[in-house]
Amino acid sequence: LLTQHRKKGEQIKKGMASGQMSRDEALECTHCRHACHVLLYSETASHLFGRIPIRYIVLMQMRFDGLLGFPGGFVNPSEETLEEGLTRELLEELGVAVPVSKEDHVESCFSPPRSGTYSSSSHLILHFYVKKIEEEQIREIEKAAASTAADHGLEVLGMVRVPLYTTKSGGGLSCFLSHSFIGVARSQLMNSLLRLHLVSPGDLQEALRGSQRTHA
Ligand code: GTP
Ligand code: MN
Ligand code: MN
Ligand code: MN
Ligand code: MN
Ligand code: MN
Repeated sequence: LLTQHRKKGEQIKKGMASGQMSRDEALECTHCRHACHVLLYSETASHLFGRIPIRYIVLMQMRFDGLLGFPGGFVNPSEETLEEGLTRELLEELGVAVPVSKEDHVESCFSPPRSGTYSSSSHLILHFYVKKIEEEQIREIEKAAASTAADHGLEVLGMVRVPLYTTKSGGGLSCFLSHSFIGVARSQLMNSLLRLHLVSPGDLQEALRGSQRTHA
Protein backbone atom coordinates (compact mmCIF):
# COMPACT_ATOMS: atom_id res chain seq x y z
CA LEU A 1 0.00 0.00 0.00
CA LEU A 2 2.85 2.32 0.93
CA THR A 3 4.57 1.83 -2.42
CA GLN A 4 1.21 2.37 -4.11
CA HIS A 5 0.87 5.67 -2.26
CA ARG A 6 4.41 6.62 -3.14
CA LYS A 7 3.81 5.75 -6.79
CA LYS A 8 0.67 7.85 -6.82
CA GLY A 9 2.60 10.74 -5.25
CA GLU A 10 5.28 10.43 -7.89
CA GLN A 11 2.69 10.39 -10.64
CA ILE A 12 1.10 13.54 -9.27
CA LYS A 13 4.50 15.23 -8.96
CA LYS A 14 5.38 14.17 -12.49
CA GLY A 15 2.04 15.51 -13.67
CA MET A 16 2.63 18.83 -11.96
CA ALA A 17 6.10 19.11 -13.46
CA SER A 18 4.56 18.88 -16.92
CA GLY A 19 1.66 21.12 -15.94
CA GLN A 20 -0.88 18.26 -16.16
CA MET A 21 -4.06 18.02 -14.09
CA SER A 22 -7.47 16.36 -14.27
CA ARG A 23 -10.50 18.10 -15.74
CA ASP A 24 -12.05 18.45 -12.25
CA GLU A 25 -8.85 19.80 -10.67
CA ALA A 26 -8.65 22.32 -13.49
CA LEU A 27 -12.19 23.56 -12.87
CA GLU A 28 -11.37 24.20 -9.18
CA CYS A 29 -9.08 26.99 -10.36
CA THR A 30 -11.75 29.67 -10.56
CA HIS A 31 -9.27 32.55 -10.96
CA CYS A 32 -7.72 30.84 -14.02
CA ARG A 33 -8.63 31.53 -17.62
CA HIS A 34 -9.61 28.42 -19.56
CA ALA A 35 -9.19 27.58 -23.24
CA CYS A 36 -10.38 24.43 -25.04
CA HIS A 37 -9.12 23.06 -28.35
CA VAL A 38 -9.96 19.91 -30.29
CA LEU A 39 -8.33 17.60 -32.79
CA LEU A 40 -11.02 16.54 -35.27
CA TYR A 41 -10.27 13.55 -37.50
CA SER A 42 -11.92 11.00 -39.76
CA GLU A 43 -11.13 7.90 -41.74
CA THR A 44 -10.86 8.25 -45.50
CA ALA A 45 -10.59 5.92 -48.46
CA SER A 46 -8.92 8.51 -50.71
CA HIS A 47 -5.46 7.99 -52.18
CA LEU A 48 -2.65 10.50 -52.76
CA PHE A 49 -1.65 10.55 -56.45
CA GLY A 50 -4.26 7.85 -56.87
CA ARG A 51 -2.01 5.27 -55.24
CA ILE A 52 -0.87 6.12 -51.66
CA PRO A 53 -3.70 5.54 -49.15
CA ILE A 54 -4.19 8.62 -46.92
CA ARG A 55 -6.15 6.55 -44.34
CA TYR A 56 -7.01 9.48 -42.06
CA ILE A 57 -7.79 13.18 -42.26
CA VAL A 58 -6.59 15.31 -39.30
CA LEU A 59 -7.66 18.97 -39.13
CA MET A 60 -5.63 21.92 -37.87
CA GLN A 61 -5.88 25.62 -38.66
CA MET A 62 -3.66 28.47 -39.77
CA ARG A 63 -4.24 31.13 -37.12
CA PHE A 64 -4.25 34.92 -37.58
CA ASP A 65 -0.74 35.03 -36.06
CA GLY A 66 0.68 32.68 -38.69
CA LEU A 67 0.96 29.78 -36.24
CA LEU A 68 -0.65 26.40 -36.65
CA GLY A 69 -3.08 25.31 -33.94
CA PHE A 70 -6.26 23.41 -33.24
CA PRO A 71 -9.72 24.95 -33.53
CA GLY A 72 -11.16 26.22 -30.24
CA GLY A 73 -10.50 29.13 -27.91
CA PHE A 74 -11.25 30.80 -24.61
CA VAL A 75 -14.27 29.54 -22.67
CA ASN A 76 -15.99 30.94 -19.59
CA PRO A 77 -16.71 28.15 -17.06
CA SER A 78 -18.88 30.49 -14.94
CA GLU A 79 -21.35 30.78 -17.85
CA GLU A 80 -20.93 27.54 -19.80
CA THR A 81 -19.43 24.08 -19.43
CA LEU A 82 -16.01 23.57 -21.01
CA GLU A 83 -17.63 21.54 -23.75
CA GLU A 84 -20.42 24.07 -24.43
CA GLY A 85 -17.74 26.75 -24.69
CA LEU A 86 -15.68 24.64 -27.07
CA THR A 87 -18.71 23.91 -29.23
CA ARG A 88 -19.46 27.66 -29.35
CA GLU A 89 -15.85 28.40 -30.36
CA LEU A 90 -16.07 25.76 -33.09
CA LEU A 91 -19.22 27.37 -34.48
CA GLU A 92 -17.38 30.73 -34.64
CA GLU A 93 -14.20 29.32 -36.18
CA LEU A 94 -15.53 26.50 -38.36
CA GLY A 95 -19.03 27.72 -39.18
CA VAL A 96 -20.38 24.32 -38.13
CA ALA A 97 -21.64 23.23 -34.71
CA VAL A 98 -19.60 20.15 -33.80
CA PRO A 99 -20.89 18.92 -30.45
CA VAL A 100 -17.93 17.95 -28.24
CA SER A 101 -18.60 16.06 -25.00
CA LYS A 102 -16.83 15.26 -21.74
CA GLU A 103 -15.95 11.82 -23.13
CA ASP A 104 -13.80 13.50 -25.81
CA HIS A 105 -11.58 15.18 -23.16
CA VAL A 106 -7.94 14.05 -23.31
CA GLU A 107 -5.95 16.30 -20.98
CA SER A 108 -5.78 19.60 -19.13
CA CYS A 109 -2.60 21.47 -18.31
CA PHE A 110 -1.23 24.87 -17.39
CA SER A 111 -0.13 26.86 -20.40
CA PRO A 112 3.65 26.88 -20.51
CA PRO A 113 4.96 30.47 -20.31
CA ARG A 114 7.51 31.53 -22.93
CA SER A 115 10.45 30.23 -20.87
CA GLY A 116 9.04 26.73 -21.33
CA THR A 117 8.92 25.81 -17.63
CA TYR A 118 5.51 24.98 -16.17
CA SER A 119 4.17 26.36 -12.92
CA SER A 120 0.83 26.86 -11.26
CA SER A 121 1.50 30.61 -11.41
CA SER A 122 0.53 30.60 -15.11
CA HIS A 123 -3.15 31.39 -14.96
CA LEU A 124 -4.19 29.90 -18.28
CA ILE A 125 -5.39 26.30 -18.31
CA LEU A 126 -5.55 24.51 -21.67
CA HIS A 127 -8.03 21.70 -22.21
CA PHE A 128 -7.50 19.35 -25.10
CA TYR A 129 -10.09 17.14 -26.79
CA VAL A 130 -10.08 14.59 -29.62
CA LYS A 131 -13.16 13.74 -31.65
CA LYS A 132 -13.60 11.31 -34.53
CA ILE A 133 -16.17 12.39 -37.11
CA GLU A 134 -17.23 11.30 -40.63
CA GLU A 135 -15.25 12.33 -43.71
CA GLU A 136 -18.42 14.05 -44.97
CA GLN A 137 -18.38 16.29 -41.85
CA ILE A 138 -14.72 17.15 -42.44
CA ARG A 139 -15.61 18.36 -45.95
CA GLU A 140 -18.59 20.31 -44.58
CA ILE A 141 -16.30 21.99 -42.00
CA GLU A 142 -13.71 22.87 -44.62
CA LYS A 143 -16.39 24.41 -46.83
CA ALA A 144 -18.00 26.44 -44.04
CA ALA A 145 -14.67 27.48 -42.47
CA ALA A 146 -13.68 29.00 -45.81
CA SER A 147 -16.95 30.85 -46.33
CA THR A 148 -19.67 31.35 -43.73
CA ALA A 149 -17.67 30.98 -40.49
CA ALA A 150 -17.74 34.24 -38.48
CA ASP A 151 -13.97 34.09 -37.89
CA HIS A 152 -13.01 33.28 -41.48
CA GLY A 153 -10.16 35.52 -42.61
CA LEU A 154 -10.01 37.07 -39.14
CA GLU A 155 -8.93 34.81 -36.26
CA VAL A 156 -8.71 31.86 -38.64
CA LEU A 157 -6.98 32.11 -42.02
CA GLY A 158 -7.86 28.61 -43.10
CA MET A 159 -8.16 24.96 -42.18
CA VAL A 160 -5.31 22.62 -43.06
CA ARG A 161 -5.03 18.86 -43.24
CA VAL A 162 -2.02 17.28 -41.56
CA PRO A 163 0.02 15.03 -43.90
CA LEU A 164 0.50 11.73 -42.04
CA TYR A 165 3.00 10.21 -44.49
CA THR A 166 6.62 11.05 -45.18
CA THR A 167 7.68 11.26 -48.82
CA LYS A 168 10.95 9.84 -50.18
CA SER A 169 12.41 13.34 -50.26
CA GLY A 170 11.52 13.90 -46.59
CA GLY A 171 8.36 15.89 -47.24
CA GLY A 172 4.95 15.35 -45.66
CA LEU A 173 4.66 15.03 -41.88
CA SER A 174 8.35 15.75 -41.48
CA CYS A 175 8.04 19.10 -43.24
CA PHE A 176 4.74 19.88 -41.52
CA LEU A 177 6.27 19.45 -38.04
CA SER A 178 8.99 21.99 -38.85
CA HIS A 179 6.38 24.77 -39.12
CA SER A 180 5.68 26.98 -36.09
CA PHE A 181 2.88 25.99 -33.71
CA ILE A 182 0.98 27.86 -30.97
CA GLY A 183 1.61 26.78 -27.35
CA VAL A 184 1.86 23.02 -26.98
CA ALA A 185 -0.14 22.27 -30.15
CA ARG A 186 2.83 20.51 -31.77
CA SER A 187 3.20 17.99 -28.94
CA GLN A 188 -0.59 17.63 -28.68
CA LEU A 189 -0.54 16.68 -32.36
CA MET A 190 2.31 14.19 -32.03
CA ASN A 191 0.92 12.57 -28.86
CA SER A 192 -2.49 12.20 -30.52
CA LEU A 193 -1.07 10.67 -33.70
CA LEU A 194 0.57 7.99 -31.56
CA ARG A 195 -2.31 7.42 -29.12
CA LEU A 196 -4.88 7.12 -31.92
CA HIS A 197 -2.54 4.92 -33.99
CA LEU A 198 -2.75 7.32 -36.93
CA VAL A 199 1.05 7.14 -37.33
CA SER A 200 3.35 4.38 -36.07
CA PRO A 201 6.08 5.28 -33.53
CA GLY A 202 8.72 4.38 -36.13
CA ASP A 203 7.18 6.61 -38.80
CA LEU A 204 6.87 9.51 -36.34
CA GLN A 205 10.50 9.09 -35.31
CA GLU A 206 11.54 9.14 -38.96
CA ALA A 207 9.47 12.28 -39.51
CA LEU A 208 11.07 13.93 -36.46
CA ARG A 209 14.58 13.13 -37.67
CA GLY A 210 13.65 14.71 -40.97
CA SER A 211 12.19 17.82 -39.37
CA GLN A 212 15.38 18.28 -37.32
CA ARG A 213 17.37 18.12 -40.56
CA THR A 214 15.07 20.78 -42.01
CA HIS A 215 15.79 23.01 -38.99
CA ALA A 216 19.59 22.57 -39.18
P1 GTP B 1 -11.67 34.00 -28.52
O1 GTP B 1 -10.96 35.30 -28.74
O2 GTP B 1 -12.47 33.95 -27.27
O3 GTP B 1 -12.42 33.54 -29.74
O4 GTP B 1 -10.52 32.89 -28.27
P2 GTP B 1 -9.45 32.51 -29.37
O5 GTP B 1 -10.07 31.57 -30.33
O6 GTP B 1 -8.83 33.74 -29.93
O7 GTP B 1 -8.38 31.76 -28.47
P3 GTP B 1 -7.20 30.87 -29.03
O8 GTP B 1 -7.70 29.82 -29.95
O9 GTP B 1 -6.11 31.75 -29.51
O10 GTP B 1 -6.75 30.11 -27.70
C1 GTP B 1 -6.47 30.82 -26.51
C2 GTP B 1 -5.06 30.53 -26.03
O11 GTP B 1 -4.87 29.13 -25.98
C3 GTP B 1 -4.00 31.05 -27.00
O12 GTP B 1 -3.61 32.33 -26.68
C4 GTP B 1 -2.89 30.07 -26.83
O13 GTP B 1 -2.06 30.41 -25.76
C5 GTP B 1 -3.60 28.79 -26.50
N1 GTP B 1 -3.81 27.95 -27.71
C6 GTP B 1 -4.31 28.29 -28.91
N2 GTP B 1 -4.36 27.24 -29.76
C7 GTP B 1 -3.88 26.20 -29.07
C8 GTP B 1 -3.69 24.85 -29.39
O14 GTP B 1 -3.95 24.35 -30.48
N3 GTP B 1 -3.20 24.08 -28.41
C9 GTP B 1 -2.89 24.60 -27.20
N4 GTP B 1 -2.41 23.80 -26.28
N5 GTP B 1 -3.06 25.86 -26.87
C10 GTP B 1 -3.54 26.66 -27.78
MN1 MN C 1 -0.70 18.99 -58.59
MN1 MN D 1 -12.00 31.85 -31.31
MN1 MN E 1 -9.18 29.98 -31.51
MN1 MN F 1 -14.54 33.46 -29.51
MN1 MN G 1 -9.30 35.82 -29.83
